[in-house]
Amino acid sequence: TYVVTEPCVDCKYTDCAAVCPVEAFHELPDRLLINPNTCIDCDACVPECPVEAIYPDVNVPDEYQDWIRINAEEAEKYPIISMKKPALHGPNCAGPEE
Ligand code: F3S
Repeated sequence: TYVVTEPCVDCKYTDCAAVCPVEAFHELPDRLLINPNTCIDCDACVPECPVEAIYPDVNVPDEYQDWIRINAEEAEKYPIISMKKPALHGPNCAGPEE
């Protein structure tokens, strides 16, 4: 499965959700998460993220390891998102303006 990690927080560009063929993304107020029970490992979302927040679970950097659990435990508690919407650009977002 793929995993959304810390750089997504306060950014939420949502380009990832727009290309997902199986509606694996779920929307929280400040980030998206991937439901590992839905993700088919297609890799479509990875190059879409402007802040490189998405990793395959076998290749998550050490500092983001806890995000494997966060995606698995939290994603399904929130509604599915499958379309692009305006990004947040919150105070912790290091990505570009749109
Ligand atoms: Fe987050 Fe990147 Fe998607 S910032 S919402 S993982 S495109």
